[in-house]
Amino acid sequence: MNKVVKIGLIGLGTVGSGVAHLLKHNHEEILRKTGIDLKLAIACDIRADEIGEKNSAITYTKDWKDVIADPEITIVIELIGGTEPAYTIITEALRAGKNVVTANKKLLAEKGRSIFETAAASDKTIGFEASVGGGIPCIRALNEGLAGNRILSISGILNGTTNYILTRMEEENKSFNDALRDAQEKGFAEADPAFDIEGYDAAHKICVISTLAYGRWIDFSAISIQGITQISPLDIRFAKEMGYAIKLLGISKIAGDEIDIRVHPAMIHQSHPLASVHNENNAITINGDMTGAVTLHGKGAGSFPTASAVASDIIQIARGNISLPETSAFSEAKYLSSERRITRYYMRLRTKDRPGILAKIAGAFGKHGVSIASVIQKESNSEFVPLLFMTHEAVENNILAAIDEINGFEFVDGKATLIPIEDSFANR
Ligand code: HSE
Repeated sequence: MNKVVKIGLIGLGTVGSGVAHLLKHNHEEILRKTGIDLKLAIACDIRADEIGEKNSAITYTKDWKDVIADPEITIVIELIGGTEPAYTIITEALRAGKNVVTANKKLLAEKGRSIFETAAASDKTIGFEASVGGGIPCIRALNEGLAGNRILSISGILNGTTNYILTRMEEENKSFNDALRDAQEKGFAEADPAFDIEGYDAAHKICVISTLAYGRWIDFSAISIQGITQISPLDIRFAKEMGYAIKLLGISKIAGDEIDIRVHPAMIHQSHPLASVHNENNAITINGDMTGAVTLHGKGAGSFPTASAVASDIIQIARGNISLPETSAFSEAKYLSSERRITRYYMRLRTKDRPGILAKIAGAFGKHGVSIASVIQKESNSEFVPLLFMTHEAVENNILAAIDEINGFEFVDGKATLIPIEDSFANR
């Protein structure tokens, strides 16, 4: 016997319209495979008058309260994003006895604790597969396929827009702004592109998945975040010459009872699996103590891939298959300090070209205990020349102190660009 499940959808933007399309287009396929007859009964959007289909079985409204008040709706999908009114909608829906599905990584990263507590108190569940990795089922992989592991580290390309931009800059020499506009037109970017390019979106995602993986409450504000706005085509070209690619990575690693969690552009060797992740694709490597590194790769942004993740949660809830994380056993995260963070670095700066400059820079590195692995100076006719350094492993604090000193030299133009080199992070 087929089971009818009525759904209320709030937000008909890029992902919401993808979900509406999927529920219509794949309705028979889902029914055939699962015996669940998913019916989108009510859809809410402030533009309901313009986008609501005439003569449709779906009721269109501008007021999200209509969705929650409908007694036939058992699953509410929140796809408006942002903190408010999304937080109120989700908590009201849970309290009204609805299960919830959301793609809202910002909200979960910042207020996940309170939302999980409300869900537990209401004896309802919340699906959030679409909040991390777009169409990649990484939350399910973590909760189910890898459930028998202690998770040691997670790292990945978690933002489609920035990966798209870096790919276009590398392959087509496109300017940053052209590549961003292109990504926006394709529906990958956040409403505020600063969330993508400044690294916040990737940070929200590494926060959500790491909280779950390690069973520790991670304070979003404790995450060190750096976006891609400092990356120039020159860095990408130099990286390539040296056998590396530049990717924006979200990284979290367990270090004793502490967590090292951060988002930044990183140099990875071209032979590394993440180096071949292009365009809007995401890839997530989850390193379990039993499995070793497991990498999932697929479309990390866009209407249909993200709708696929939303549909997966809807189906699992309809089957009674999603349970809340055991948050009562979660502890407060402690964070690895920068005195204990050790990495290799790439540094690019522009200096005047005259005797003694290299020695002064090398002296600053040496004074702070940073050992240089290689150095390249490019010849140029202009006043300033590019100078590139790769260091051996160094303590983050020491490299920052060296850079501070180097930035202060009168022969340096602007500020040095610093990019960590992640050689073997999946196995650390
Ligand atoms: N703006 C996000 C990205 C969309 O580019 O990955 C999905 O979260």
